[in-house]
Amino acid sequence: MNKGIAIYPGSFDPPTNGHLDLIQRGSKIFEELVVAILRNSEKTPMFSVAERLEMLKELTADLKNVRLDTFHGLMVEYAKSIDAICVLRGIRAVSDYEYELQMALMNRKLEPTLETVFMMPADKYSYVSSRLVREVAQAGGPVRGLVPEVVEFKLREKLDAASRLEERRLRAKAAKAAKHKGKEEKRK
Ligand code: PNS
Repeated sequence: MNKGIAIYPGSFDPPTNGHLDLIQRGSKIFEELVVAILRNSEKTPMFSVAERLEMLKELTADLKNVRLDTFHGLMVEYAKSIDAICVLRGIRAVSDYEYELQMALMNRKLEPTLETVFMMPADKYSYVSSRLVREVAQAGGPVRGLVPEVVEFKLREKLDAASRLEERRLRAKAAKAAKHKGKEEKRK
């Protein structure tokens, strides 16, 4: 077990089985692991930061040395503020490597004392990403086995609510068009 705090930063929109796998592996080798969600106002996420925190809280409840937090701005600044000595990032495939290497080297330039450690999730999750999970779920496809059950449930809940909203919007639009048509016909 390595002494000190490690940070596992990310978007986690939503958390996947790959994320959870990495959190479990990380919690075994670091004294304390802080899973830190980026609060990024530029992106329009599927889940709010509060929703992502809630899901991660449930998923990591049994991991006593895992803490959750959110951050904004530079990750290295946040890492410094919590005295983290290490950044944990997952590499699923060679395609991840180039971006992760660039990010790790930029972070080292910004804060030379902060080390990045790469870990591989289980190979069965090597193709799982939050983006693809969102895409499959939004198109009505199955995400069982790709995300924890609680996330699968929240995805369904969110998409059902979105489709109910869309249905209501279309119904209101149709009613407005019918009303307008009725008025036009009366005028003739
Ligand atoms: O899950 P993601 O989206 O791959 O995580 C990317 C994340 C949040 C780790 C990265 O975008 C980040 O650290 N953003 C904070 C801003 C920052 O420090 N940028 C410089 C990185 S080199």
